[in-house]
Amino acid sequence: MFKQLSIVLVVFAVMAHATMNLPSQEEYNAEMKSAGMSQSSIDGLNNLSQKFVSQYPVVQSNKSAADKFMAEYTTEAQNFVKSMPVEDQKIYAESLKKYGLI
Ligand SMILES: *[C@@H]1O[C@H](CO)[C@@H](O)[C@H](O)[C@H]1NC(C)=O
Ligand SMILES: *[C@@H]1O[C@H](CO)[C@@H](O)[C@H](O)[C@H]1NC(C)=O
Repeated sequence: MFKQLSIVLVVFAVMAHATMNLPSQEEYNAEMKSAGMSQSSIDGLNNLSQKFVSQYPVVQSNKSAADKFMAEYTTEAQNFVKSMPVEDQKIYAESLKKYGLI
């Protein structure tokens, strides 16, 4: 389940900047906040999205570098989600369902 969540997080990071029917990072943050997610979890998810958005384009053209980045990023995302309070993990999972990401 956590593996799935972290992969979905990556998908979210990519899609958040495409023109899909998904909220902007700011809207998503506001939504997580009103759902009761702690600020530190929101900040951490933001950091992960930012990291992906800023670093993936750099390695994208090099398959081995991209694979390496994805593996590291997935582990990091996975660890972060696991470190979030259980309530926050639930809110996060619900949000992924809501946007049809899982
Ligand atoms: C988010 O990134 C900032 C800057 O790198 C860092 O200071 C902060 O501790 C990070 N927050 C979390 C929750 O990881
Ligand atoms: C691609 O990335 C790998 C691993 O970081 C590196 O060893 C290699 O030199 C890179 N290749 C190119 C063409 O940049």
